Amino acid sequence: MTIKAVVFDAYGTLYDVQSVAAVTDEAFPGYGELISQIWRMKQLEYTWLRSLMGRYEDFSVITRDSLSFTLKTLGLPFDAAIFERIMDKYVHLDLYSDAKQALAGLKGRKLAILSNGSTEMLNALVRNTGLETILDATISIDSRRIFKPSPRTYELIEANLGEKPQDVLFVSSNPFDACGAKSFGLKVAWIERVTPQAMAAELAKANLIRPLSMFKAIRMQMDEYGLEPDYRIAALADLPRLVAAHA
Ligand code: LAC
Repeated sequence: MTIKAVVFDAYGTLYDVQSVAAVTDEAFPGYGELISQIWRMKQLEYTWLRSLMGRYEDFSVITRDSLSFTLKTLGLPFDAAIFERIMDKYVHLDLYSDAKQALAGLKGRKLAILSNGSTEMLNALVRNTGLETILDATISIDSRRIFKPSPRTYELIEANLGEKPQDVLFVSSNPFDACGAKSFGLKVAWIERVTPQAMAAELAKANLIRPLSMFKAIRMQMDEYGLEPDYRIAALADLPRLVAAHA
């Protein structure tokens, strides 16, 4: 078994989508956490539902629409400057603290991103966070006009990198994406950032379940599709050792 390329999901995997909370809370004090969770949940929902409807709009449109939905739902006022400031965080998301070191530890393999993000927003994000010299390719699903987990999106890895699915390790923390990639035939490492034990403990001890806890429960626990990722890792930092074992 060889791993010739390591391909990463972007949002939630290399980049912390929760890092928008600083900006959303500054814009609407007291609402930051709720905005961040509703926004991300709706954003992904819109990708799936637009894919089913055959009404593709790129991820920048979807990210704007889902933020509009969120602010309207919460009865918050629309202000163009504030809206743009929040949106701008999407091209300046924080990398997970172990991301750069993990990527450096994978030197020698082809490294890429395959993401739902639009070409423009992904390129901006990669440039703004200094990954453009580290990655061999930043692949947007844009050209397929359908979102992950459609198999047509995962085909873009071989089309761009020239590596067969069985020689590619796909890394995602998003369970739907890990399952989609596994179903397609890629080798998959799922980053389990919240263990079932930690999840259960967090929910059990809370008097009031926080929006972030709901997000962790709905979007960060392994799904029940009968698909099991090849590897479960706790963090990006675990990757160099895992990949080195498959020379
Ligand atoms: C991405 C979504 C899954 O980066 O977060 O493709």
